[in-house]
Amino acid sequence: MQCVNLIGKAAKVEAANRWNPVQLSIVQTILVKSTDAAVIAAVSAALSEADGYQLIYCEDGRTATRWMDEVLVNLFLHDCGDGAEVDESALIHSRLAHTSCARIVVFDPARTPQGFELANRTAAFVFLFKPLDPAQLGVIVKRALEQAELARRHRILSRELKLSLDEDIFQTSADGSVQGGYLQFERLVFASARMADLAAEAQMAARTNMPVLIQGDTGTGKELLARAIHFNSGRRKSPMLVQNCGGIAENMLHSELFGHVQGAFPGAISDRLGLFRAADGGTVFLDEVSEISPQFQVALLRFLQEGEVKPLGSDTMLYSNVRIIAASNKSIEKMVEQGTFRRDLYYRLRGFQLNVPSLADRPEDIPVLTRFFVEKYAGVLGRRVLGVTTDALKHLEAYPFPGNVRELETEVQRMVAVAEQGGYIALRHLSDKISSTPINVAGTAGFVPMGDSLKDMVESLERAIVVQALDRSHWNQSKVANDLGLSRVGLANKIKRYGITRGRRG
Ligand SMILES: Nc1ncnc2c1ncn2[C@@H]1O[C@H](COP(=O)(O)OP(=O)(O)OP(=O)(O)O)[C@@H](O)[C@H]1O
Ligand SMILES: [Mg+2]
Repeated sequence: MQCVNLIGKAAKVEAANRWNPVQLSIVQTILVKSTDAAVIAAVSAALSEADGYQLIYCEDGRTATRWMDEVLVNLFLHDCGDGAEVDESALIHSRLAHTSCARIVVFDPARTPQGFELANRTAAFVFLFKPLDPAQLGVIVKRALEQAELARRHRILSRELKLSLDEDIFQTSADGSVQGGYLQFERLVFASARMADLAAEAQMAARTNMPVLIQGDTGTGKELLARAIHFNSGRRKSPMLVQNCGGIAENMLHSELFGHVQGAFPGAISDRLGLFRAADGGTVFLDEVSEISPQFQVALLRFLQEGEVKPLGSDTMLYSNVRIIAASNKSIEKMVEQGTFRRDLYYRLRGFQLNVPSLADRPEDIPVLTRFFVEKYAGVLGRRVLGVTTDALKHLEAYPFPGNVRELETEVQRMVAVAEQGGYIALRHLSDKISSTPINVAGTAGFVPMGDSLKDMVESLERAIVVQALDRSHWNQSKVANDLGLSRVGLANKIKRYGITRGRRG
């Protein structure tokens, strides 16, 4: 990738030394596409590393596009050039793929009058005529970046507000009865007893202001559960803001959550409102909380105990009332035992501790989730699907889904896209890894029948099926009778006849 370095270190961005895009929310990265020495000189006079700018220079649209896809660019300065033809590809790309990037179009109206129309079409912040005035450019760039930061905050808040007012989320009826054949706690879909217990606990947590710690494998629905708690709580009219604590430097995380004042550190070109104060009255969801440093654990503990927020670089102690919901796919207990996570913070965080089971441990949820996602994606993709064949469903139930519900969702989305319009989703629409998974016959794969006669063998299989169904449903006998096509009395007779008792296996 071609990159012309003009401002020493500030412009030196090498492939081997790429910075973490998250950090760029503070150091503002400016991409300049120009071959005009006068434009480049004006930029280098107006914007310096000391003011918190990282500058990347390139000469053509293709290279500019690649930079935008590689690093987080906050502002793109596009010089239309001096030829009759304008290479507008990078500007269009920025408009379509990097919507939060501010754009400035620079042109000479006598040579490239199409600059006016281009600036308009690509929603540029402003257009500037050549020759550029460095003082004017400096002010305009600063304003453009401030406006982008405000737009970012506005987006976060309005998205949260929209979610909190979205009636679709509240699908349970006023009396809490089951709708559509399966249980919903907000949009959390499940049929398993384990998830029902978890949802009941989450509903209890929602009524309090206590911190909640949600643990579970990737894709099990931790964030969804956090949203369900927030939108079922008294805080629903205030935002729930999300911060991922993984892959972010400690001072950046501090600044994201507690905020900073202008000049707090090199690159802090304006005050930044941290999430703790932006979400005042609401909830902050700390994802991947296991990843925070020991020093940050102390700061978080202080916040949990006192609600104190001291922005970086400020002497003023501020206060904020937010509920913390933290999530982790590592076991925090284990980290405490290993001494990598503070015990006092762990105790503070787990006002309620919710462990979301992996999908493989609750295969009863697969049919209802499948149905839910089929309806969702049929709507999204504008397709008419009649349902899923039993055969296909059996394979879905047998597959272990290491990526949990997220993997199932992606699979269903694909199935809906490839199914014939107005038809059923069948085995041939499943991906190979799922259609080639051997099906368990009522979950008894590997079962070795007992006894010598056919009757004894069949009875031993029947007993195993009944035991398995009872265990799976936590002894919900009506459900088991229904699932196995028996009457309640018929099931009770079999339990008695085979001497099956609760808690025993086999
Ligand atoms: N019970 C559920 N009902 C409906 N959708 C679900 C359910 N569980 C998970 N999903 C969907 O699965 C996807 C993954 O869920 P989510 O992002 O909450 O998982 P996560 O546990 O936070 O994953 P990660 O650890 O990778 O961050 C989302 O699209 C979510 O809407
Ligand atoms: Mg998550």
